[in-house]
Parts: sequence; structure tokens; C-alpha cells
Amino acid sequence: MTERAPIDPSQLEASLRPFGESRMLPRDAYVSEAVFSWEQRNFFAGGWMCVGLGSDLPDPGDQTARSLGHSSVFLTRDKQGRVRAFANACRHRGHELLACGEKVNREIVLCPYHAWSYRLNGDLRRAPGYDRGELANFNGDEFGLVELPCEEWHGYVFVDGSGSAPPLSEHLAGLDEVIAPYETERLVVLGRHSYEVASNWKILTENYEECYHCPVIHPQLCKVSPPESGEGYVHTAAGAWVGGWMELREDAETMSISGSTNATPLRGLDAFRRRIVDYVGVFPNVLISPHPDYVMTHVLTPLSAGRTFIECSWAFSPEDAARPGFDPSFAIDFWDVTNKQDWLACESVQRGLGSEHAVPGVLSAAEDGVYQFVTMVARGYAGLPLLPGAPDEEELATRGLARLA
Ligand code: FES
Ligand SMILES: [Fe+2]
Repeated sequence: MTERAPIDPSQLEASLRPFGESRMLPRDAYVSEAVFSWEQRNFFAGGWMCVGLGSDLPDPGDQTARSLGHSSVFLTRDKQGRVRAFANACRHRGHELLACGEKVNREIVLCPYHAWSYRLNGDLRRAPGYDRGELANFNGDEFGLVELPCEEWHGYVFVDGSGSAPPLSEHLAGLDEVIAPYETERLVVLGRHSYEVASNWKILTENYEECYHCPVIHPQLCKVSPPESGEGYVHTAAGAWVGGWMELREDAETMSISGSTNATPLRGLDAFRRRIVDYVGVFPNVLISPHPDYVMTHVLTPLSAGRTFIECSWAFSPEDAARPGFDPSFAIDFWDVTNKQDWLACESVQRGLGSEHAVPGVLSAAEDGVYQFVTMVARGYAGLPLLPGAPDEEELATRGLARLA
């Protein structure tokens, strides 16, 4: 990532100061379509991003397409059970292989325009009419789909839209020990909600990374989890992610309206994890919230500077899922209420930042997670490697930012 974002460097420098002295991101980060376009190229299509859950493509031959920056990516599970990603553009004249969100199961990949077909590994299988006349020597080997790096990590599918990013293990460094105990790869999604929110994607993530707002807008949440219980509990991330945890109140079993649960604790969780909820934001677009008995995931797809599509899913143990009459609504209803409270606040922030007089503010002690996220974004804007936290003087100097301090 070397292209710098179209943002005033002196304002970025203010976001990259140490915690306590730093400012929020410049207003343009939230309202400028030029910055949004840069983000689509550099954050979303320029490295690893989450394109959904592996369980969206459970069987060989399952195929779908997902948004990836300004374009999209075609996903399929091959005969060996591996999820593979290809540029969603036919090698004939570029028609999309599937529209975004469309799902099919086929043994081959079939372009809906002139019916070129491909094998699940991307090889061209048949180009109708290319065996006659001047095209008799057509070499189909040269016309396979363009493959992109793709990995399934604990049930989450990540694609590197640039094709050249460092390994996913670097992007997620240190996160395995946070997520692995929940065995998210074996969980079963029993509820989904999608939302379209009139807010920049970063406002949604920033909101997710703090509970400073909880006493004001989340009465239901505060009944089951003390809003101040997350203060200072921030993971030290070695990769491009930010996370922290909060405790459950003594009388609460999980996050639900009553505090009680219909589910059983996820197998193998230690005593600590049975009493907390973790909140992890993996850059740029997936929020993973493991609870003692279920895991909620938000996948964000930015639509414009001021609009974001969110898919929220709730996953439970296969044992609970198989239990006759198991009702997951205790979790879904609680978070649907809470999500909507958050979206209203985020939409208002977006409108507030619409004022040309809006000036980046200072973060409170309870917003250290937001600080980690903001510095990661600002680092990306400045062309520095994506890591949470302020860069040191030497790093700043490499981007010509130190003199502005
Ligand atoms: S564009 Fe796909 S077959 Fe023509
Ligand atoms: Fe919230």
C-alpha cells in the first residue's frame, strides 16, 4: 500500500499522535467520495478482506459473488472442499459470472452471456464455437479465470483483492489465540439480519470499539454487562485488528434481554471466557463478537462514503442447533434491538459530520479501542503498514509526516 489518500497530511498527523493527544480522523475520511474511492482501491480491494462465512458455501460446486472494492469477486468451493476466489469477470468479454449475492450450485462455472464454461478450479472447459475456422487453434489453457489468494480462517473467508498482499497470517497476527477457543469453524448460523445504514463504515466500527456510549443509548445492554467493564481491556494486536472484552454481570449468563440463555456454553471454554464477551474488529470489514454460548458476526460492505450494508449473523454450537425446539431468538432479539440503537447513533454522527464546521474531537479514556482503529486507518492513509497504534518517529519520517508534529 503506497498510494497516499487524498487527505491533508497535517490532519493525519493529529490522528497519529499518542493516545490522549490525538484527534479523530479528519472529516473528509467520512464524507469525501474521493477518500471513499481511495479506500475501495487500497483498503478493500488492496489487501485482505472478509467476504463472508465458509458456511455460505457448504458444498462442492456452491458458487456466489461478493462485493470487493469497486468490483466483485467470484467464490466457489472446489471438489476438494477448498474455497477459491476468482476475479468475477469472464475471460471472453468480461461478463460477471454471477451477480453480487447470487448463489448457485453447479459442477461447472457457466458464464450467463455466451455460455463459456469453466471447471471449479478456474480452468476453461468449453468456449462454444471456438473449434472452427480461424479459431481452430484456439488454446483454451490461456483463458482460465484469474485466481485471487483466498483462505478460510476459523470459518471466515478472506480474499486478497490485490493478489500481492503479505500472507493472511500477518494480517491476523495474534488473533488466533483470541478466536480459536470458540471453534467458530464448527458453529451453525441460526439467525441473520441485514441492515442498510446511512453511515460511513468507519463510524460503525468506531462505535463498535467503545462502550462510552452504552449508558446513554443501550439500557438493555447495561442491564447484563457493566458498560465500564471494558475499560482498559484491549487486546495487544500484532496484526491489522483491534479488540477488547467486557464482563457479564454476576447474574447474567449471556447477552440477552433477561440475561439468561437457551443455549449451552461453547465446548472447551475456560472459566474466564464463560464470563466475558469479546469484541474484535478485523480490518477492514468484519466484527466478530464471541459470547460464552454464541458468536455474532457483522460483515460490513461499504456502498458509498455515507452508506454501508451490514450482514449480521448469529452462530451456535451444532449440539444446540440439533436440539429439537432450540430457540436462538434470545440472542438475535437482544442484538437486533442493540444494533438498531447503534445504527441510529451512527447515522446521526454521519449527518453531524456533514457540517463543514465539524472539527475532529479528542477521544476519552474509555475509547482506547477507537484510538487503535483510528491510528490504523490513518497509517493506511499515510501509506504506512496497517497496525493499530501510533507510528514511531522513524516510521513517520519515512512518509514525511514527522516535521508536521
Ligand atoms: S462474456 Fe462470458 S461468455 Fe462471453
Ligand atoms: Fe453500541
